[in-house]
Amino acid sequence: MYPRIKSLALYAFSVTLLASLFYIRRETKLLTSPVDQKVDVADPKPLVLGNAEPSKCLPDLAVANSSLSLPALHRIFLTYRHCRNFSILLRPSRCSKETFLLLAIKSAPVNIERRVAIRNTWGKEVSIGGRRIRLVFLLGRSEAKNQVQPLHQLLAYESQEFDDIVQWDFVDNFFNLTLKELHFLRWFMEDCLNARFVLKGDDDVFVNTYNIVEFLWDLKPEQDLFVGDVIANARPIRNTKVKYFVPESMYRASFYPLYAGGGGYVMSRTTVQRLQSTAEGMELFPIDDVFVGMCLAKMAVAPKNHAGFKTFGIQRPFNSFDPCFYKELMVVHKLNPTEMWIMWTLVKDDKTCHILFCSHPPSPDMMY
Ligand SMILES: *[C@@H]1O[C@H](CO)[C@@H](O)[C@H](O)[C@H]1NC(C)=O
Ligand SMILES: *[C@@H]1O[C@H](CO)[C@@H](O)[C@H](O)[C@H]1NC(C)=O
Ligand SMILES: *[C@@H]1O[C@H](CO)[C@@H](O)[C@H](O)[C@H]1NC(C)=O
Repeated sequence: MYPRIKSLALYAFSVTLLASLFYIRRETKLLTSPVDQKVDVADPKPLVLGNAEPSKCLPDLAVANSSLSLPALHRIFLTYRHCRNFSILLRPSRCSKETFLLLAIKSAPVNIERRVAIRNTWGKEVSIGGRRIRLVFLLGRSEAKNQVQPLHQLLAYESQEFDDIVQWDFVDNFFNLTLKELHFLRWFMEDCLNARFVLKGDDDVFVNTYNIVEFLWDLKPEQDLFVGDVIANARPIRNTKVKYFVPESMYRASFYPLYAGGGGYVMSRTTVQRLQSTAEGMELFPIDDVFVGMCLAKMAVAPKNHAGFKTFGIQRPFNSFDPCFYKELMVVHKLNPTEMWIMWTLVKDDKTCHILFCSHPPSPDMMY
């Protein structure tokens, strides 16, 4: 066990170093003036940026007027809620006919390290047991004005290099995540309908793709399937100081419908299709996980709970070096890139030599 931990520690250290170097480079890049920005993109796509052209969707002033008592972000959300058609800025190639699992990961333009970590760890395998896997990142535009240009160029570069960027022309912030959901569903219908299953998740999750593929192996994409960390009887938060605050004027009932934590959940192709047509008829809601739950309720699809989806994180400190820890795991939320690397190495190890350790029942002090 010892040499393995030592080499892992060394590995983690070098990754951290690399990530910080990357970060410093990015910071200095962002500080230099946009005129100096040159990224080697053979065929740069035209920049369609915020103030470059006036928005075609005008604010609803009557709504703005009647929501003066709400926090500013809620007012903005309501004022622009009817704006739901945004153009696509970067589009990857279509999913191939053989695509078994699509990994659709919500990311923000600035989260470069997370995308790098995912591409090199759990997002790396193009096929498991002969089943094809496709990775895409879902993004909006950067909010900070001075970052728009360099970040767009970086994304154009990533798009060319990795063919895994879907970017739309709306501001990427918490309140626009439902807009991202809706646009993702439309993109899926146009360009990825071949995929049999979809894992939708955040860019700070670890996904045990081996376990996911194994779980889906015999399931039918033509049947409804929605599996994740299901939350029942959640109450809307009425405290204006909390990020998830929702006023009664936006949601009157005292409970939300069943929904899965947005960190990561799995759906069949049929469910994604039905979700798209249902979502088109729904008013947008600021919390995207709950919005999906509302659509599922309308479709009469019950989201299924699975203990392997840990979207609210795991009690820390957990022993990430315990090989048995990964046995049943599907998704773990709230990890930094280094933790992702460590987990990935262990999961890969687990495939080869540690299965035997886990054949006895887990001890009570293990975090499940
Ligand atoms: C908004 O409110 C102001 C003052 O209360 C009123 O003068 C104005 O006409 C209202 N605008 C709309 C579009 O309702
Ligand atoms: C968005 O597009 C759909 C279909 O193309 C159209 O029916 C709808 O009116 C549009 N909505 C807005 C706010 O432009
Ligand atoms: C969502 O994005 C649109 C388009 O960029 C923007 O006008 C709107 O203010 C954003 N919504 C929120 C709540 O920030």
